[in-house]
Amino acid sequence: MSIRHWRTWVLIIFLISTALLKLSLSDPDSHLCRKKLLMREKVRRMFYHAYDNYMKYAFPHDELKPLTKSFTDSLSELGNLRLEHLPQNYKGSALTLIESLSSLLILGNNTEFERAVSWLSENLTFDVDARVNLFECNIRVLGGLVSAHMLAIDSRNRFTPGTYKNELLTLAEDLGQRFLPAFSTPTGLPYAWINLKYGVMANETTETSTSGSGSLILEMGALSKLTGNPQYEAAAFRALRKLWSLRSSLNLLGTTLDVVTGKWIEHSSGIGAGVDSFYEYLVKAYILFGKEEYWRMFQSAYVAVQKYFRHGPWYHEADMRTGHATYWQLTSLQAFWPGVLVGDIAAANSSHREFFKVWERFGVLPERYLLDHQMLHPTEKYYPLRPELAESTFYLYQATKDPWYLEVGESITDSLNLHTKVKGGFASVRDVSTMVLEDHQHSFFLAETCKYLYLLYDDSFLVDRNYIFTTEGHPLPVLSAWHDKFPEEYTLANNTFIQRASKVRRASAMSLQVCPAMTASTSRQAYQKLESACHVADARIDYRCLTDEDCGVDATSCRRRSCSIAGFCGLWLFV
Ligand SMILES: *[C@@H]1O[C@H](CO)[C@@H](O)[C@H](O)[C@H]1NC(C)=O
Ligand SMILES: *[C@@H]1O[C@H](CO)[C@@H](O)[C@H](O)[C@H]1NC(C)=O
Ligand SMILES: *[C@@H]1O[C@H](CO)[C@@H](O)[C@H](O)[C@H]1NC(C)=O
Ligand SMILES: *[C@@H]1O[C@H](CO)[C@@H](O)[C@H](O)[C@H]1NC(C)=O
Ligand SMILES: *[C@@H]1O[C@H](CO)[C@@H](O)[C@H](O)[C@H]1NC(C)=O
Repeated sequence: MSIRHWRTWVLIIFLISTALLKLSLSDPDSHLCRKKLLMREKVRRMFYHAYDNYMKYAFPHDELKPLTKSFTDSLSELGNLRLEHLPQNYKGSALTLIESLSSLLILGNNTEFERAVSWLSENLTFDVDARVNLFECNIRVLGGLVSAHMLAIDSRNRFTPGTYKNELLTLAEDLGQRFLPAFSTPTGLPYAWINLKYGVMANETTETSTSGSGSLILEMGALSKLTGNPQYEAAAFRALRKLWSLRSSLNLLGTTLDVVTGKWIEHSSGIGAGVDSFYEYLVKAYILFGKEEYWRMFQSAYVAVQKYFRHGPWYHEADMRTGHATYWQLTSLQAFWPGVLVGDIAAANSSHREFFKVWERFGVLPERYLLDHQMLHPTEKYYPLRPELAESTFYLYQATKDPWYLEVGESITDSLNLHTKVKGGFASVRDVSTMVLEDHQHSFFLAETCKYLYLLYDDSFLVDRNYIFTTEGHPLPVLSAWHDKFPEEYTLANNTFIQRASKVRRASAMSLQVCPAMTASTSRQAYQKLESACHVADARIDYRCLTDEDCGVDATSCRRRSCSIAGFCGLWLFV
């Protein structure tokens, strides 16, 4: 080839590639892609700003005080509104580091993860004279450790070989043992408070909440499966069953009760603070452990919520005995509900939209909002960097791929950076009407808020894997070995099982089958398609379904999915 020709070819190639580049830039898909890359970096920077400042100014204490660049040993203060019985010599448990472990991996930072694990293995001890809230300690510390252990033993994460020797599991088991004395009550419902060194304190309060006693099963169940010691799962399961037996004839539960007498103290309840994760754990326990009993409890509880709490897109509170509405308030924890609702996309979207409107109005989500007066609650005007709206946005995006949710995520990210970012980290908002800040960066900002925003723009961590996230945002892999058995309706369909999961098309980000897939040679075509709980069949470009046949089988629960009137596949469409 002569030089001349060579130049011509270069020119032609240059012209073609610029044309292609132009084409691709004007293509909406690539616009979406660039947007995602941009947002992913923005969220990554947010996480590291929070993390690096914690490591610099607070570690190994529990949480960062971003305004004064200092620390707080807050594990013993969580849920302790009156700050009673605070420990004298407690110096922190590196809470924020434990909470960051799974996020570090999701952001692809294996080196930092390994460094953290080696620090924790060598230096963390739970033999401390500190009274902690069982629920908070379970979801943050036990959940953080169990999840990180499962990620560390997953060969796909490619750690330095031979370095990890189950140290996180050893720590988790030690903590789990310290939880057990809390369950020694006449009802089996655990005390809300436990001293890590001395067990239940003399004169300990017997009052607990529905979420406090009813959302321990994921972490403690996983700990039992991992260690082979059934005590943890048995204790959490017994408490959950007992709690469910105390429901009213309307299938409603109250908010607080007594662990010795089993009598309700606060009869009013909703889906917000004090109750929220109870519902969430019923459905997630079913997905993780495949026990029919969890599914039946969830189904009845869910129907009752829709019947008594729902008012258009809002959920108010009601008395468990009469079903009469009590408080017409939006609490920011309720924002998680649209995420649980994923099968009913239209309803989830309308709730999510209302929460987002309140977010937009104030710049962040106030802790309480009075629905009937359309105004802020007089005292609960704070926003402690909570994740629930970001979480719902992530689930709804996974379910629908509607780019609108990416914009919602962008708006959430931007207002967090605008209102809560300070030199020393991210600060909670004390009053959303003035945006006065508070000197506290909660550990869940790293465990959840940043994680869900990141996953919204980059879900590569989830590809070919199936996780459920605990209520604190810690991923637990869904494993068929942990499942009791397949639901009847699945095994009844008599088809041949494919043993090798690799043969099956990975339908979508969250689907890795727990249920064995069926061969294509069967007449029941719909049964071949395994989809995750919150996905419509990816085959359809617009992500909508026309008939139930489009929806296939849910890959985690092995139940058939159906197509709603709005054109979305769902698992939960029974109301
Ligand atoms: C991992 O985190 C550490 C601490 O923030 C940081 O120095 C390092 O650059 C990160 N590595 C990657 C690959 O992001
Ligand atoms: C444990 O803590 C000590 C004191 O802070 C520190 O010197 C040591 O490096 C830590 N261990 C690991 C493995 O990081
Ligand atoms: C428990 O409460 C009783 C009555 O209030 C009190 O007399 C007793 O000293 C308390 N015991 C402890 C260990 O705090
Ligand atoms: C959800 O609601 C928003 C706002 O009304 C709308 O733009 C979006 O298309 C809806 N998405 C779905 C999947 O219904
Ligand atoms: C299930 O299908 C297999 C293969 O088609 C057949 O041999 C077997 O008899 C069927 N079993 C039942 C219970 O229908």
